[in-house]
Amino acid sequence: MDKKIETIRVDLGERSYDIAIGSNMLRSIGTSLNPFDFSPKVAIVSNTTVHPLYGDVVSNSLKKAGFDVLTVIIPDGEEYKDLLRVEHIYNELLKAKLDRSSSLIALGGGVIGDMTGFAASTYMRGISYIQVPTTLLAQVDSSVGGKTGVNHKLGKNMIGAFWQPRLVWIDVKTLNTLQKREFLAGVAEVIKYGVIWDEELYYFLEKNRTRILNLDRDVLMYVIKRSCEIKAEVVSKDEREAGLRSILNFGHTIGHAIETVTGYRKYLHGEAVAIGMYLEAKLASMLDLINNKEVVRIKALIDSYSLPSEKPLDIDVEHILSSMELDKKVVAGQLKFILPEKIGKVRIQTGVSWKIIKDLLQS
Ligand SMILES: NC(=O)c1ccc[n+]([C@@H]2O[C@H](COP(=O)([O-])OP(=O)(O)OC[C@H]3O[C@@H](n4cnc5c(N)ncnc54)[C@H](O)[C@@H]3O)[C@@H](O)[C@H]2O)c1
Repeated sequence: MDKKIETIRVDLGERSYDIAIGSNMLRSIGTSLNPFDFSPKVAIVSNTTVHPLYGDVVSNSLKKAGFDVLTVIIPDGEEYKDLLRVEHIYNELLKAKLDRSSSLIALGGGVIGDMTGFAASTYMRGISYIQVPTTLLAQVDSSVGGKTGVNHKLGKNMIGAFWQPRLVWIDVKTLNTLQKREFLAGVAEVIKYGVIWDEELYYFLEKNRTRILNLDRDVLMYVIKRSCEIKAEVVSKDEREAGLRSILNFGHTIGHAIETVTGYRKYLHGEAVAIGMYLEAKLASMLDLINNKEVVRIKALIDSYSLPSEKPLDIDVEHILSSMELDKKVVAGQLKFILPEKIGKVRIQTGVSWKIIKDLLQS
């Protein structure tokens, strides 16, 4: 392993766990499981892209540590994040006789993490799982916090469970093989943490753009660690999104609607969130909650990472509005937004009128 490992604790009583971040970490995943009470049978769940890259190193490390390793491979793509693939995972686990003290290892991006977590939450009424996220988005966001689930044909992430992992094992070196566009989509979620919580992180992203884009290890370690610390702190205070946790949805109310209306094909999740963040910052300015200079600064950072910030011209505003109406973030017909008051601080705003959203989207 290169240099040191940074560890962050997600504090959730008996469901607490560590997030370990380092470089070249995959080869030591086996020994990292020694402190746990897992039975020797474990299963790696991965996909057809990530497994050829990292499956062997993870599998060998687990075997060296005394585990009996089953591997379950899912085709690559969001369209496979469904109950059919979860059933496939159950079938393989049952055939290999994994038991209630077995553990699953989710090796991949957010799709694999969400699906494996959900399979773990329901297999034999719930077994342990470890997140080994290999995209920036999964490392800074989806692997932490215990939201697991799959898509239903009537809506994304509609079937799921809160089920916390026992460990999150982040190897920043895996980002070297990630496509640039996927990496940048992950940066959007980091920008989000800066806006909602930490002006210093935001400033860091402004000042260190070149080093981040060059995948400088120390800079990435800092960015991932700080993002995980923020997510851990928010989740520790509000595991099931009764209040505070919803601030993590900054950019997502409009972002989700844009993803839905474009059929999940035009934009990656992080790209849609980038558009959502700028539009929601503009909304905050229309409501006189934020100084327009801050909105300009938000757009400048999004643009500097080659992320989209403007609503695509070919999308019908009415479509976006009706998609927002169906969203999980609409409670009792009231639209809820996370709106920035300045960089580093947001507020939860309910009762935003449909008219002002329409004006925003048409402007
Ligand atoms: N649970 C949560 O809290 C949460 C939060 C945000 C997003 N999500 C979910 O996460 C999913 C998106 O995750 P994602 O952006 O990681 O997408 P993804 O899992 O589809 O990964 C993106 C692409 O990168 C490939 N890949 C992954 N790691 C790689 C590597 N190291 N080298 C080369 N290729 C690699 C994947 O095979 C895939 O083709 C969505 O389903 C979304 O709903 C969940």
